[in-house]
Amino acid sequence: MENSNSETKQAVARKAFEYLNSKLHKDCILGIGTGSTTNFFIQELIEHKPEIKAIVSSSLASSKLIEEAGLEVSELNDVGAPDFYIDGADEINDRFEMIKGGGGALTREKIIATASKKFICICDSSKKVKMLGKFPVAVEVIPMARSYVARQMVVKGGSPEYRVGFVSDNGNQIIDVRNLKLSVPYDFENEINNIPGVVANGIFAARKADYLVIDKNGVPEILEQ
Ligand code: A5P
Repeated sequence: MENSNSETKQAVARKAFEYLNSKLHKDCILGIGTGSTTNFFIQELIEHKPEIKAIVSSSLASSKLIEEAGLEVSELNDVGAPDFYIDGADEINDRFEMIKGGGGALTREKIIATASKKFICICDSSKKVKMLGKFPVAVEVIPMARSYVARQMVVKGGSPEYRVGFVSDNGNQIIDVRNLKLSVPYDFENEINNIPGVVANGIFAARKADYLVIDKNGVPEILEQ
């Protein structure tokens, strides 16, 4: 049965932390994502304060949580490749391709995920899908390109909607695109990236997750690609 509640999110985050904790050491660099599930992972970090070299974060919101607890957040530019990146997803398929960006942090998430050696996706089973695309694909755009990119998305069969009033951590705007046929997510990710004015899009197929921590019959389990 599918589960999407705080207890389940906390359980998968805890399971991911337990798994990771044994692999952490003083030279480790951790990448931290954004969202309600990741927030539970941040709580584990704060509680256990593992001895690691650095933490990098994919959003101002996550950085704030981490820093308010007295932990330091480093710039990706100042540290090496993160050993692990931990983040949630809005949808994930059997190949561990994802749609992300419901919270609007997709660009920094994609940068850190791609820079990281291993990506551990943590989510509840309501996020598991056969085919990606029911959840809208967030497209971060340079503001002056918004209408142009939206029209291009219509040409590709999508139904774009401007996320009114939202400004990304990078000062950009977001278009949420529904009705895309994502049978080959990798191709679509690249196609969207090729539209001038697009900064990044929420399809994570070029950089999939390596591990998925998800609940099955109420119990969190770790799956590996
Ligand atoms: C943030 O931009 C997103 O990519 C989140 O990682 C995603 O929306 C999952 O969030 P929840 O854990 O809150 O469902």
